[in-house]
Parts: sequence; C-alpha cells; structure tokens
Amino acid sequence: MYRLLYPMRTYLIVTGRDDEVNVMAADWVTVLSFKPEIVGVAVSPKRYTHGLIKKYGEYVISVPSVQMLRDVWIAGTESGPEKLRKMNITLTPSKTIKTPSISEALANIECKVIDYRDYGDHTLFVGRVTGYTYNPEAFKNGEPVPSAGFLAHIARNKFITFKDEILTI
Ligand SMILES: Cc1cc2nc3c(=O)[nH]c(=O)nc-3n(C[C@H](O)[C@H](O)[C@H](O)COP(=O)(O)O)c2cc1C
Repeated sequence: MYRLLYPMRTYLIVTGRDDEVNVMAADWVTVLSFKPEIVGVAVSPKRYTHGLIKKYGEYVISVPSVQMLRDVWIAGTESGPEKLRKMNITLTPSKTIKTPSISEALANIECKVIDYRDYGDHTLFVGRVTGYTYNPEAFKNGEPVPSAGFLAHIARNKFITFKDEILTI
C-alpha cells in the first residue's frame, strides 16, 4: 500500500558524531508542526541510525540533490559509519547540534529529539528544529527552485527529479 503515496521525496538522515557519524536514506520524513517547528522521521529499529538517534537525541535531515544520487544509494543500501568512506560527501559542523551537516546538500535541518514512539515496525522520531542551513541557489524568496535538482523516489533503485515547470492557478 505505502507505494500508493509515492513518488516521495528522499532525504539523508545524519546521526552520531566524530568517528561514529552515520548517514542513511529516508523517504518517510514529515513536517509535524509549523510553530514551533517540528519534523518527524520513521526509522526501523534495524537501522544503525536508530541506535545513534537514541544515543545522542539529535539528527540532521539533509536534502540531497540529484547530483548526490550515488551517495543516496550507498546511504540507503549499506549499514553503519564505514559506508562514509565510499561516499563522496563533506561533513561540516552544524550550527546548533553536534551532529554534522552535509556541505553538498541543498539544505540541512538540525533537530533535537523531543519524543519518539514505535508504530508497527518503525519508530517515529519527533524532532524540534533548532537550526538550519541551505544553498541560496536552491531556495529563493523562501521557495525551492525546481532546477536545483530535488530528488524523489519511485521504488527500489528508481528515482526522479522535477521538471523546471511551475503550474500556477
Ligand atoms: C530511497 C530510500 C529511502 C529509504 N527510506 C527509509 C525510511 O524512511 N526509513 C527507514 O527506516 N529506512 C529507509 N530506507 C532504508 C535505509 O536507508 C537502509 O536500510 C540503510 O542501509 C540504513 O542505514 P544504517 O543501518 O547505516 O542506519 C530507505 C532506503 C532507500 C534507498
């Protein structure tokens, strides 16, 4: 059934710190509140990421571009921090938390866990947004620029990006 909600945007979840920084791909990311700003991500307990979020109580939601597709695939198919050696990303300090951000990403949203709860086979981690950074070429006047190459997931190894065509009504 869940595929009926697709295509869904794909994100990278950064967790951990120092030698134990990890990155996983996640489609199941959602805004939960506007004021205060709260975002959630559903993470299976099978993921290495799950343990790191519980350990440190924070995570970064990174917005990858289509140019980062190979990294997204590694992050979404391999487990644990060793995968970062194969990935072509640059970690950079975040503004408000110790979990790093990703320089190449179109945006990085820094979150502190305020709640979590298991629903079926995933845990919904609920995070208060404590800071964010973004590429000004990808977001202008508070809106995404489609040609920046935002990434969405179809199924398995199939992804799509957006046409540079905005429909207004
Ligand atoms: C495009 C894509 C989206 C994914 N979305 C999620 C998700 O929302 N939640 C989840 O628990 N796993 C998701 N996964 C699976 C994890 O990214 C994958 O199991 C990854 O290897 C976990 O890494 P880790 O064990 O290092 O944390 C997704 C995988 C891909 C390829």
